[in-house]
Amino acid sequence: MATNRTFTMIKPDAVENGHIGNILKMIIDNGFKIVAMKYTKLSEERAGAFYEVHKERPFYGDLVSFMTSGTIVAAILEKEDAVASFRTLIGATNPADADEGTIRNLYATSIDANAVHGSDSDENAEIEGNFHFSSEEQF
Ligand code: CMP
Repeated sequence: MATNRTFTMIKPDAVENGHIGNILKMIIDNGFKIVAMKYTKLSEERAGAFYEVHKERPFYGDLVSFMTSGTIVAAILEKEDAVASFRTLIGATNPADADEGTIRNLYATSIDANAVHGSDSDENAEIEGNFHFSSEEQF
């Protein structure tokens, strides 16, 4: 995957609260091209593997249980400087700290139910995109 890509999930809280359309509109309006997209549900095993990097953190159990609590939208996005640009668009992990007008400021309700995930590096964007999509599904 090129370094102008990032990976996102619209999390169960935002799906449940009916924000998929508004969040995708913000993503597209901010110049991201959707390279692959899937409406899906994570098993406990897959959510645990996806967030393996946080395994030793105290919030890992709650994170896995939240991410398996409902449907998600997984997507690979493309834009120049995609990882940093997307992290600016979504705002801080804790919505209480997210800048006004960011996705988490508008749609997240807590640090767990924080509406969206965004990759934190080019390396993780590639790993996370490949976790959800085969190369044949990526355009
Ligand atoms: P996300 O970007 O998906 O990456 C890991 C997730 O763990 C994060 O968003 C939060 O939803 C969740 N989380 C819960 N507590 C914390 C914490 N103290 N620090 C970082 N992430 C946390």
